[in-house]
Amino acid sequence: MSENATAAATGASATERFQATSNGAADTPPERLSTLIRQVLAGVHATIRDNDVTYPEYDALKAWLIQVGRDGEWPLFLDVFVEHVVEEVATADRHGSKGAIEGPFYVPDAPEFGAEATLPMRENERGLKLTFHGQVRAVDGRPLPGAKVDIWHNGEEGFYSQFVPDIPEWNLRGVITTDHSGRFRIHTIKPTPYQIPTDGSTGALIRAAGWHAYRPAHLHLKVTAPGFRPITTQLYFPGDPHNDSDIADGVKPELMLAPTAVGGALDAEYDFVLDPA
Ligand code: DHB
Ligand code: FE
Repeated sequence: MSENATAAATGASATERFQATSNGAADTPPERLSTLIRQVLAGVHATIRDNDVTYPEYDALKAWLIQVGRDGEWPLFLDVFVEHVVEEVATADRHGSKGAIEGPFYVPDAPEFGAEATLPMRENERGLKLTFHGQVRAVDGRPLPGAKVDIWHNGEEGFYSQFVPDIPEWNLRGVITTDHSGRFRIHTIKPTPYQIPTDGSTGALIRAAGWHAYRPAHLHLKVTAPGFRPITTQLYFPGDPHNDSDIADGVKPELMLAPTAVGGALDAEYDFVLDPA
């Protein structure tokens, strides 16, 4: 594991990146904001009453909240513990493929490729070779040529390019365009179980609560086509020791790949079905 790949490096990068790419402003009306905040606070108040929370515990919470900000770990923390419910609510009415959390490590504008491509990787990139292929269709069964399959994932060290030093900029990131029959074929390596940075405040909380910090190995994807609702999702590998205890609660049965081993490499097929916009 790279010595530079500390929580400080990963967390701070995620924070900078979020500020650089998000629109920030929500046009939430005051009444709605008031309702939301009141309900969050009511949950906090109930937790304090139900558990007789003490002043030392309250002070520990304050100190920890301050430290999460100093570590730049709010994107990490929120995407691990909160985003999965936002995703669930946002996609509840869809008929097409299941989505999953985006997480903190997406970067837009990755290099573009045709329908079959090898993701950018280092000459000596370690890891089991993986061919990931499939078709993008509409819910009515129509294949979608020209759909974009934006994929990003980690490598054997467990880190994402652009969030730690020493990994080439677009390593294991790319945008693939489906062919005339909506098909794509991506050559890459199998991702690795990812451990939430353990040396920052999120890791400290996880340790103090006696939890483990792992997400199972996963591919991240955004699938888009004009006139259709975009899908942000993740795909997982059967047998991963963390599939049943994902710290980020991102695993769904529909998102499990069924890879086959072909001569020391993996072959995995998955089709994406998009809802009309
Ligand atoms: C986090 C990291 C991920 O790779 C992911 O998919 C979701 C969340 C995180 O560190 O917050
Ligand atoms: Fe991830």
